[in-house]
Amino acid sequence: MPKKSLNVLFASSEAVPFIKTGGLADVSGSLPPVLRGLGQDVRLILPAYPEALQRIGETREVAQLRLPGHHESVHLLEGRGENDMPVYLVDAPSAFRRKGNPYVGPKGIDWPDNHRRFTLFSRAVAALGLNRAGLDWNPDIVHCNDWQTGLVPALMDHEWQRPATLFTIHNLSYFGLFSHEAFEELHLPTDLWRMEGLEFYGSGSFLKAGLAYADQITTVSPTYAGEIRTATFGYGLEGLLQFRSNRLSGILNGIDYAAWNPATDPHLDHPYDLSTLDNRIHNKRELQREFDLPERDNALLFGYIGRLVEQKGADLILDILPRLQRQGNAQVVFLGSGNPDLEQTLREAQYQFPEMVRCRIGYDEGLSHRIEGGCDAFLMPSRFEPCGLNQLYSLRYGCVPIVHTTGGLADSVVDVTAATLKNGSATGFSFLHANPDGLWYAVHRALECYHNRPDLWLELMTRGMQSDFSWERSAGQYLRLYHKALHGEPGP
Ligand code: ADP
Ligand code: GLC
Repeated sequence: MPKKSLNVLFASSEAVPFIKTGGLADVSGSLPPVLRGLGQDVRLILPAYPEALQRIGETREVAQLRLPGHHESVHLLEGRGENDMPVYLVDAPSAFRRKGNPYVGPKGIDWPDNHRRFTLFSRAVAALGLNRAGLDWNPDIVHCNDWQTGLVPALMDHEWQRPATLFTIHNLSYFGLFSHEAFEELHLPTDLWRMEGLEFYGSGSFLKAGLAYADQITTVSPTYAGEIRTATFGYGLEGLLQFRSNRLSGILNGIDYAAWNPATDPHLDHPYDLSTLDNRIHNKRELQREFDLPERDNALLFGYIGRLVEQKGADLILDILPRLQRQGNAQVVFLGSGNPDLEQTLREAQYQFPEMVRCRIGYDEGLSHRIEGGCDAFLMPSRFEPCGLNQLYSLRYGCVPIVHTTGGLADSVVDVTAATLKNGSATGFSFLHANPDGLWYAVHRALECYHNRPDLWLELMTRGMQSDFSWERSAGQYLRLYHKALHGEPGP
């Protein structure tokens, strides 16, 4: 018997195409429409940032909410997304209509009232979740994502009739931490402040609230779901995650195959697919020109795209540049922004290695596509990586990934070894230890292969391009988990 179609409220602090700072936006923008395609009534809810209001186009006000602790009424606007999906924007001008980033002010420092802003957002999500916004739509499931929505399961926990909740961890290292004084400002139920609730060593954590109260917890790869139960990756939350083990599972992210398709990508001057791979070299030359690098067809062109933070390990790449220079015949391009010191070191590397290194500091969607479509190999030496999307984009674009064996990188890239060559599964190069020697071990093998085994390199490109990381498979897993959450069954 086919299972009943579910009403799902998908709550996120960012989603493509409305607002993006990282992979959370890619996931929140692409998973809900796929679930709708599977017959579920999924609706997205986001804060009404100026950029989101501008990008969504036409909206209508569907409700006004009075929420505890907030002096003005909050307007709930409804617009439409992909697959005709209703998208709700929580419009609280004093909290969300600010220029710049959803989380940080112009100087790159967290907005000081983030605890109030995301409590407000979570209260609005809970009001919709409990069908108290006057929409006459009763969600079966509220799917929350990361600390910004961590309070939602806690806010609904005591309700007699409430939807089931699923909380997805995209990155355990962002705790949404705040002080006890801040907690008092929020007028939350006082019993949330305890060790089994959101209290964390004298502070409060929105992330922990999600982990403690959600009916089901997921994270974005099976390997990361195991890693976060250990002290190395659990940051003190491993005990809670072990305790909740029978509700915790890992579902690998998919990618949007329409937006990331080298055959139709509007950002590429020379689109290509498996039958027209020869076009790719033109993208490489264009990219070398764009970065003002010597146009060398036979240099192995490495790419890096990502936030410049400790997690991503860009510093490890900087560390191996002298070795790469000595080895010869390689070039590296970086695209990213973040830590000012790292940005500066990258800029300086261009002068130190003028024929080999270029960086672009900033955020550039088009350039990120051109790097995937023009580089030969993609460097992702992340110290930890819950899932990672760029290695998936790289596979899709025939840009051979070089990754640290962790989290979603371990679940998506198959290292070149004697065994994987024999069974025909290798798609890239990986290394076990997140240090310069570890990275060099993989880079060195990639150089050898690129320069001496073009047949094998082509095999890696081809296999990557043929592998399937579309959302369909993972969306089915979420659906099964929604039903488990609804029936109070343990997962996964
Ligand atoms: P995270 O969410 O931890 O930053 P992911 O690999 O999951 O890492 O996703 C990052 C997303 O953000 C990818 O879509 C990537 O292409 C994009 N991205 C990161 N930095 C930049 C940048 N400087 N310019 C363009 N896109 C970027
Ligand atoms: C986080 C993680 C990244 C993941 C993304 C989307 O930002 O750092 O690994 O791919 O969320 O789930």
